[in-house]
Amino acid sequence: MEWVSRDVVVVGTGVAGLRAAIEAALNGLDVVVLTKTRATCSASIMAEGGVNAALANVDKDDSWEKHFIDTVRAGAFLNDQDLVEVLCKEIVERIYELEEWGAMFSRTDDGLIAQRAFGKQSRRRTCYASDRTGHEIVTTLLSVARSLGVEIVENRFASDVLLSDDGARAAGVLAWDTRAWEPEVYRSKAVILACGGAAQIYEVTTVPQEATGDCYAIALRAGLKLKDMEMVQFHPTGLAFPESAKGILITEAVRGEGGILRNALGERFMARYAPQEMELAGRDVVARAIWREISEGRGTEHGGVYLDITHVPCERIRERLESTYRLLRRLGIDMCREPIEVSPTAHYFMGGIEIDVDASTALKGLFACGEAAGGVHGANRVGGNSLAEGLVFGRRAGASASRVARSSTAPSIDRERLNIAIERVRSVLSRSREKGVGYETIRKRLRSVMWRYGGVVRSGEGLRSLIKELESLEKSLCLLGVDQGASFSVEALRALETVNMVLVARAVAVSALAREESRGAHYREDYPRRDDSRWLKHITVSLRGNAIVVGFSPVRITRVKP
Ligand code: FUM
Repeated sequence: MEWVSRDVVVVGTGVAGLRAAIEAALNGLDVVVLTKTRATCSASIMAEGGVNAALANVDKDDSWEKHFIDTVRAGAFLNDQDLVEVLCKEIVERIYELEEWGAMFSRTDDGLIAQRAFGKQSRRRTCYASDRTGHEIVTTLLSVARSLGVEIVENRFASDVLLSDDGARAAGVLAWDTRAWEPEVYRSKAVILACGGAAQIYEVTTVPQEATGDCYAIALRAGLKLKDMEMVQFHPTGLAFPESAKGILITEAVRGEGGILRNALGERFMARYAPQEMELAGRDVVARAIWREISEGRGTEHGGVYLDITHVPCERIRERLESTYRLLRRLGIDMCREPIEVSPTAHYFMGGIEIDVDASTALKGLFACGEAAGGVHGANRVGGNSLAEGLVFGRRAGASASRVARSSTAPSIDRERLNIAIERVRSVLSRSREKGVGYETIRKRLRSVMWRYGGVVRSGEGLRSLIKELESLEKSLCLLGVDQGASFSVEALRALETVNMVLVARAVAVSALAREESRGAHYREDYPRRDDSRWLKHITVSLRGNAIVVGFSPVRITRVKP
């Protein structure tokens, strides 16, 4: 088995992971970043509409305080406000830093970074690079990381955080070369988990295949708590048609640039749900409104509603929404001339690993940032705050990991735990497919039941049957077989991801059943109202044996009460 020693190991090459690695490298540390596929495969790179920062370039009276209050109101006060304060203050510096590093943001006529309107925000503060903002930021960070000598190792599936002999701190990462499927131990003084969310557990989603909740599963197996896992964001406007492209993100920027929503009867239905904010209401409100229009029979032929921006000059559409325009043209839709059929699609996990303002987790030497971490966005995230979070808390995670790495030596690894972790993975990989069900069967069923019972609208009855289904899928995991022949390397990865997906889905379902109210993205038909008297608290989940244990933790309310 190969052993590698580095000061800091980062898992994930999205915005958070890259920014963390850059910070550690700037501090003179030896950093390695692991990614299970390619460095450019992340949800971050697919982010379209923008990144929020109160630069006040367009709306001159914007401020970090206004950004703060918009974020907390959108999050239905479930946000940890200490984290939100850090986010809103520090993102301004992170944007100017990116500009200095060469990121090409779109510009106002007087040459400033342009800012557009996004949902649930009182000011135009979403900075953008046309509608490929994530691509611009990730490619900039990648080139900075490479110029600093950050080592990025592709095709490495991280399965576990390794613990020190005394179990008191993180001591490295167990990873697998996804071609040979041999274990590798990355021994380190600090570990940063930044491998994103898990929206692939839903049948209809915007996220890449890679978003299978690996960091949540790693954290649970390491004995950590996840919080707010019931808070899954459904983006209101995924493509509803053509079927082959179902779920693909149609950026909120289409609405930010003036797009309006109509049902099949031609009604601008948001007037019924959010008469003030209309199409730029919170994502939770718009997604549920669309859901209702469709389920009450006012949807389009292909089960969506219309998103119409044909009244905006085509030249402007092509400048501000360049990739969307081109993608749709390839699919045979001309958004300058015809409306787009859209419906909700699973997009983002607000919940995740518990962290403090330094991105520290409960395990010494282990840090988490980006979508892998929870607490910033509360019950609902405003569009444009995820890239912001990745940049701000990525930098913080890198700085914190650097402090730990500088002041300690690498702990020795608990061999017994390492061997157990290796055996767990090997037992999945060694089961032959002929004898068992394939991963696709389990994954397909999982995504279908999650969409049906754990989606935009939930109920106690539905969630209870969901949990039963997931328990039975969990049992069938031990029958999971992997093709031992030509497609072994790909199937092995999918099988291990599927194991993680089932675990994460259970965490979502159990948390959703526990929260007997509706708040933000979590809507319960049987408890349709928000209930601050009982539920202004985080639901946490941890793993005991194979059981998911529910707990609660207080929301850190530091500035504004509901
Ligand atoms: O609609 C969008 O462009 C998505 C942005 C986000 O989720 O932050």
